[in-house]
Amino acid sequence: MREVAIIGIGQTIISEHWDKSLRELAGEAALAAMAEAQVTHVDSVYVGNMLSDISNLQAHLGSMVADWIGQRFTDAVKIESACSSGSAAFRAGYLAVASGDVDIALVVGVEKMTDSPGSEITSALATAADADWEVDHGLSFVALNALIMKRYMYEYGWKGIDFAEFAINAHANAVHNPNARFRKPITENSFIKSPMICDPINLMDASPVGDGAAAVILANADILTPNSAKIVVAGSSAATDTIAIHNRKAPLWLTAAEKSTQKAYAQAGIGPDDIGVFEYHDAFTIMAALSLEAGGFAEPGKGPMLAKEGEIKLGGRIPVATRGGLKARGHPVGATGMYQIVEVVQQLRGEAGETQVPRYDFGMAQNIGGSGSNIVTHILKRIQ
Ligand code: COA
Repeated sequence: MREVAIIGIGQTIISEHWDKSLRELAGEAALAAMAEAQVTHVDSVYVGNMLSDISNLQAHLGSMVADWIGQRFTDAVKIESACSSGSAAFRAGYLAVASGDVDIALVVGVEKMTDSPGSEITSALATAADADWEVDHGLSFVALNALIMKRYMYEYGWKGIDFAEFAINAHANAVHNPNARFRKPITENSFIKSPMICDPINLMDASPVGDGAAAVILANADILTPNSAKIVVAGSSAATDTIAIHNRKAPLWLTAAEKSTQKAYAQAGIGPDDIGVFEYHDAFTIMAALSLEAGGFAEPGKGPMLAKEGEIKLGGRIPVATRGGLKARGHPVGATGMYQIVEVVQQLRGEAGETQVPRYDFGMAQNIGGSGSNIVTHILKRIQ
């Protein structure tokens, strides 16, 4: 396999983009990445997206995006893996370049959720769960995560307030990210007072819906280095688990995260102590805790302790959600994995401004599809 570098990044603000179409959002991020990489042609295009067929009545995003950005006749495809669609697309682009099949690939994650009423988006998101055994019984995605969180609190003795620091940290970092959906800090008091969505998940435990796109240009690392810092893919791995939670022997353990993380660590030749920034999938605060545990940063049941002790902050043992995370940067589902990758690149280049982490040799991005059922992990490395 060849070494693969990320030579350009682009992203849109996550917002309610009622004035922009799906193709315009994808195009804005893709063309920004191409401009930064100083390329006018790419060999292949991978579009990460979850909901366009249902919520925008638009399938066939590979052709649509390639055409819109002036790359007609290029190999192009949409990749769907629920909320991990963005990083699944990144992994496809990475493998295409690493294998030698192409020299330059564009990966763009895009999602447009806010044109649809909340009830329709809730139904659309639920298509990532098991239709027969979960959705038919009335479970939404928030409800599934609420069941996991309730069980976790029962098993390990945590209270709802013990998850507050995950949200407070994310919102504090998003203040400095011009592309974030919510740029206001929150306090423990506002966490306590926020409305209950699905017990025990309140509004501040949950990530918001949003519209946005993020993109990168991947290239054979030997031939192209237009940026001052060279960022390469040091580990790339994905793993699945049962689609329905009740089929898992250990529903409080993200086995797919453990497996994909361990493989990515082995590929990169490192362990959790070497990671200077972790863009995790904090769609709900319970997922933040479980991700830290499966990634080897906390013992089972001890994830909230890291947050309470301040170890997830910028100067802590494992800085997370450094640009706001899903909680405050936002979670335009199929685009989220690409925002995570772009943000790790910003950190490793030393371009994260007020939220720059102190150690930036290695960064990890982890994107979760479904309730822990399809998890994609990437480790990026700065080599100059
Ligand atoms: N965090 C903080 N503030 C939020 C928020 C969130 N997650 N979601 C909405 N808000 C704010 C809005 O900005 C708005 O503020 P304003 O009144 O000052 O303008 C207010 O709360 C109400 O917004 P609204 O869009 O009406 O909220 P809602 O009740 O329709 O939706 C949720 C809130 C939590 C139900 C919705 O964001 C949601 O479904 N989130 C989870 C999405 C999900 O499951 N994703 C997949 C996970 S894998």
